[in-house]
Amino acid sequence: MSYNTFGHMFRVTTWGESHGPALGATVDGCPPGIELSEAFIQVFLDRRRPGQSKMTTQRQEPDRVRILSGVFEGRTTGTPIQLMIENTDQRSKDYGEIARQFRPGHADITYHQKYGIRDYRGGGRSSARETAARVAAGGVAQAVLKALVPELTITGYMVQMGEKHLDRAKFDAGEILNNPFFLPDAGAVEEWTEYLSALRKAQNSVGAAVEVVATGCPAGLGAPIYAKMDSDLAAAMMTINAVKGVEIGEGMAAAALTGTENADEIVMGPNGPEFLSNHAGGILGGITTGQPIVVRFSVKPTSSILTPRRSINTAGEAVEVVTQGRHDPCVGIRAVPVAEAMMACVILDHLLMDRAQTGGQRGQIG
Ligand SMILES: Cc1cc2nc3c(=O)[nH]c(=O)nc-3n(C[C@H](O)[C@H](O)[C@H](O)COP(=O)(O)O)c2cc1C
Repeated sequence: MSYNTFGHMFRVTTWGESHGPALGATVDGCPPGIELSEAFIQVFLDRRRPGQSKMTTQRQEPDRVRILSGVFEGRTTGTPIQLMIENTDQRSKDYGEIARQFRPGHADITYHQKYGIRDYRGGGRSSARETAARVAAGGVAQAVLKALVPELTITGYMVQMGEKHLDRAKFDAGEILNNPFFLPDAGAVEEWTEYLSALRKAQNSVGAAVEVVATGCPAGLGAPIYAKMDSDLAAAMMTINAVKGVEIGEGMAAAALTGTENADEIVMGPNGPEFLSNHAGGILGGITTGQPIVVRFSVKPTSSILTPRRSINTAGEAVEVVTQGRHDPCVGIRAVPVAEAMMACVILDHLLMDRAQTGGQRGQIG
């Protein structure tokens, strides 16, 4: 069995392949009466769009989204929202050779072994082109969140690219959308550019780490025990192509901390409880605390590189694979808007679940 739907109440099904005529998402469970337009969703897609700088693939995909259903007179109707993006820059000839070969680091071999048939053009369904559909669905989620929780913000950015690390002392959120790396430090952009350009010239690629933070998320979201906010967020991020590790809050670094260092102490503030630190990443027992939700993940280096790598073909013969075509030298960059979209879908899904179960009733403190 395959699985192309995620979410409990705000359910997103993505469909389509990288080289088919179109791909998209069907969003079911969206509340009615929410203002929604193609232009609103397009802003998010434009951030993910390829060909915008030398730091990403030179494929030119306009990624224009069309809303085919579920919206009437500019508002959602509560019925399924069908989102469609046409594929306009497929170059099947770039992928001709790989019809019989398994590209190392790609899903060619596993799709072949599992299904016995695969759309080899650009990876077909396993291509990260599918993430455009998620970003479109994320745009719908963002529209609903804007209406229901206007104070909520979701911000993604790069914290590492190969040996380059974000200097957190220089963190400037205002710079994230001003450079091709989604980097919150304008001063480091030149260095990161030189580093990635040198790797690209050397026919190589590099991995990355991305952080996504949601601020203004209400306390009390999350459905213990098997739909905890953290387990759903981790699953959502792990479904993004090339993601190999996900952390919440301190994540793996928590292994090096002592209990006294890690405890997020609580005091009573003028407007209710306040935490003195946020090692937990805004989630306790799978339920949001009201603090920023902090998710971080690692992305592996782009597998499609011009340096020959050994592999086999469908006949089991040894081959050398050089992946031609246009590829991202660091896929972590374009993963940033995808991660924001996944976070928006998960948080909205939990908001709707919480509304359904508790009706927003909360235990009182003080
Ligand atoms: C936004 C985005 C763009 C990507 N672009 C490329 C690319 O140009 N070339 C490539 O080899 N991999 C690219 N990838 C990664 C592959 O899609 C992914 O490694 C492959 O499908 C195998 O899946 P896995 O790495 O999750 O196991 C991209 C990933 C993301 C998130």
